[in-house]
Amino acid sequence: MSDSKASNQMWGGRFASGPAAIMEAINASISFDRKLYAQDIKGSVAHSRMLAATGIISAGDQAEIERGLNTILSEIEEGRFEFSAKLEDIHMNVEARLAALIGTAAGRLHTARSRNDQVAVDFRLWVKDELFRLDAALTALIEAFLDRAQEHAATVMPGFTHLQTAQPVTFGHHCMAYVEMFSRDLSRVRDALRRMDESPLGAAALAGTGFPIDRHMTAEALGFREPTRNSIDSVSDRDFALEFLSLAAICATHLSRLAEEIVIWSTPQFGFIRLSDQFSTGSSIMPQKKNPDAAELVRAKTGRVNGHLIGLLTVMKGLPLAYSKDMQEDKEAVFDAAETLDLMVAAMTGMVRDMGINAAAMKKAAGSGYSTATDLADWLVREAGLPFREAHHVTGRAVALAEKKGVALDRLSLAELQEIDGRITDAVFGVLSVNASVKSRASFGGTAPGEVRRQIRYWRARLKRDARPAKRS
Ligand code: ARG
Repeated sequence: MSDSKASNQMWGGRFASGPAAIMEAINASISFDRKLYAQDIKGSVAHSRMLAATGIISAGDQAEIERGLNTILSEIEEGRFEFSAKLEDIHMNVEARLAALIGTAAGRLHTARSRNDQVAVDFRLWVKDELFRLDAALTALIEAFLDRAQEHAATVMPGFTHLQTAQPVTFGHHCMAYVEMFSRDLSRVRDALRRMDESPLGAAALAGTGFPIDRHMTAEALGFREPTRNSIDSVSDRDFALEFLSLAAICATHLSRLAEEIVIWSTPQFGFIRLSDQFSTGSSIMPQKKNPDAAELVRAKTGRVNGHLIGLLTVMKGLPLAYSKDMQEDKEAVFDAAETLDLMVAAMTGMVRDMGINAAAMKKAAGSGYSTATDLADWLVREAGLPFREAHHVTGRAVALAEKKGVALDRLSLAELQEIDGRITDAVFGVLSVNASVKSRASFGGTAPGEVRRQIRYWRARLKRDARPAKRS
């Protein structure tokens, strides 16, 4: 038996209707691009109005088209619409239904348009909407952190490098680090919005059209700043999707770092925070356990979001201009990344708002591990005039002695300290406590409670100043 005969037999057995079924299965996108129905209908309404305004179709046909499109919108929203894989995608499903509803006038809607610019405009509108959702969600997360920072501007905790106790910081200061991170994410959302705010509609298949269309009119009707300037680029560009996935991946990565900290802080060994029942689960076998499942899932879902970025970059790399069907693979990545990220941000906002802070455990840990050693060295420089390198050496000897005796630095006696260096005086005990340590770090952006409060005021004012009015298309 020849190879080709064998494979035909395989096809025949697996797919009753032959190769056509396989073609339909690989070609159809309706199972996922139906998500674009509202954008698709909105785009078609705007296009039909422009066609009538420019005299390309009659006002009567336009009215019929718009009436039919509105009927389809209600049918879909009420779950009465029958999507068909035979009709490939959302564009053909809507157009076929329009023909069934209004007859020949439906055939005029696709004048001066192609599915290539149609899908580009639909998808841009969808991504824009997602960015508006993300804008609001990130703002809520930042506000949650600002509230926790204000509450704990003076609560001391250990600051870490290499996850080893480094220097005491305040919990408020640590929260404000996340305010900085998520504010950068928010600014990336707004930058991306500004760049993608151009309408590709009217680029047609790739070369533009001979009909006297008005692309400025459709751009304005759809809420875009202006039309795109090159018809070839308009139908081959997916930068807006890649930018969304890039900013989503960076944001997810920030969320996963926070998730990891929540996992660590909530262990009995650290005991810095208590997760609310709402965001933790019990164990089916160990009654004492309270697991940070939501945080762990945020940490894990980052893999999915980051994977989608690499996935679409790989789809787009090496694609010749202009449109290729490869680009249909852009949607599932973006839809799943968006849904996943929305959930991650919401879960984290809830956890940050709800978590109980164990200030006593944080303070105890802040004082361990010789976290004020740098304060001693700085004191020797400031008060005794030692060069920093020498102060570092003296402090190292003090730490070694404290370690040998099994006590904290501020538990060494003055006599013991003076034996190490005669220039040390009683005043040194004023900097060896964790509270004194954080209070002294009042450099701009430092951990001192007063400085943390200053940064909270700055971010509250800036958030208010830059707030965007809620927008829905
Ligand atoms: N479903 C297609 C997509 O998502 C629409 C564009 C089809 N264009 C084409 N020339 N076949 O990309």
